[in-house]
Amino acid sequence: LPDAEVLVVSNREPYIHNRTDAGITLQTPASGLVAALEPVMRACGGTWIAHGSGSADRETVDAHDRVRVPPADPAYALRRVWLSEAEQDGYYYGFANEGLWPLCHIAFVRPTFREQDWQQYQAVNARFADSIVEEAGRDDPIVLVQDYHFALLPRMIRERLPRATVVTFWHIPWPNAETFGICPWRDEIIDGLLGSTILGFHTRFHCNNFLEATDRFMESRIDREHGSITLRGHETMIRSYPISIEWPPAALAGQAPPAQCRAAVVARYGLPADARIAVGVERFDYTKGILDRVAAIDDLLTRNPDLKGKLVYIQAASPTRSKLGAYSALQDETVRLAGEINARHGGDGWSPIVLSIRHHEPHEVFELFRAADTCIVSSLHDGMNLVAKEFVASRDDEHGVLILSGFAGASRELSEALIVNPYDTRSMAAAIERALCMPAAEQRERMRLMRDQVRQRNVYRWAAQMLLDAARLRKRERIVTA
Ligand code: G6P
Repeated sequence: LPDAEVLVVSNREPYIHNRTDAGITLQTPASGLVAALEPVMRACGGTWIAHGSGSADRETVDAHDRVRVPPADPAYALRRVWLSEAEQDGYYYGFANEGLWPLCHIAFVRPTFREQDWQQYQAVNARFADSIVEEAGRDDPIVLVQDYHFALLPRMIRERLPRATVVTFWHIPWPNAETFGICPWRDEIIDGLLGSTILGFHTRFHCNNFLEATDRFMESRIDREHGSITLRGHETMIRSYPISIEWPPAALAGQAPPAQCRAAVVARYGLPADARIAVGVERFDYTKGILDRVAAIDDLLTRNPDLKGKLVYIQAASPTRSKLGAYSALQDETVRLAGEINARHGGDGWSPIVLSIRHHEPHEVFELFRAADTCIVSSLHDGMNLVAKEFVASRDDEHGVLILSGFAGASRELSEALIVNPYDTRSMAAAIERALCMPAAEQRERMRLMRDQVRQRNVYRWAAQMLLDAARLRKRERIVTA
């Protein structure tokens, strides 16, 4: 798209500057959205508009609140938007993360909808619309709107920049119509999203759920054959674009061979040299099924005591949204349950569950992946899940077994993983046992097929497909209006 201007807008920024005792440090946030889009922006350039959330973010921008990133090798502009505490409480913690997040994940955490959160959500969406208008150098930019924080933004952009091409991507699941219908502002949310030119989800299933919700709640015309919705004369394409990761991943550069990674992890956690290592890597989020996974390890050690003293499960969990009760309760409960299991099965300096609760930078995560016999992704519900793809990408030795929830979008593409139901403790335990016993040849065959899949369907292809669809619609519109 040589003649187009590309603006990305998301809540989470790709680079966070923090003030620490060591001065200003740079953090890469744990976010599937950021992991996917950052390499695309590095390759394409443009401007990324996001909330400036770091304690030293204000010190590192210019007079227009912009900073060129990546700081070590600048390729695009990051425009930071400042949010007050009240805005963050209402828009981010409140409506986005206590309302839409549990609602869309059907995670059995009751969604909470408060009038004041909704007001902040509307106000913050409007503030980001202002920033987009400020940043746009022409009247027809391509604006890539990211995720459930900005359901109202597509409509706002359409009203202010009618010639813009708005491509919105919803990174989390879209639930069935009954479930979505409990949101008091469901009509406004659907109306806002239908300001988009293209609205993307990870899977066809989520697209169908969105069509169904629109059919039920809105006066619109739905063309199921073409996958489009027309509301008040404006047509939106509803398409599935399964998100992915860069290939090869930047975090793989400079990694030691897997045997050395293993030795480093064994030394770091004081494990026996012949330990069998299972790993899990995520934000400490109740949708990820961390408790269910720990319970499966408990079940496995109870039924197979031979594994005592050998099997170690390392959980790298980055604290996230800790201000919210559901998140701090999960953290407390996980620590309690791990302690109980370690007391039950551990001893002689060996603990089967190791919790590493802190932020982990990508190179540490990749070292852990390369050290593992198996990686367990047991989300109770997940739009895609990029940890599964990163694990596969990290294993250029074609070893290691991926255990993957059938309720993560990634299971549609990575069918050579051991697919599990995280709610079924016994079968999860059986899958872990199977992974630990899997012959090297079978590991290789499965890993090769999955690696081919992730290599071919990488994030550049994800972005290219959306941008090509956008380019085709722009051309068509110009022909029609000429
Ligand atoms: C999910 C969401 C992203 C979000 C990420 C991390 O992947 O879809 O929008 O950035 O979680 O969560 P956080 O709230 O820390 O940005």
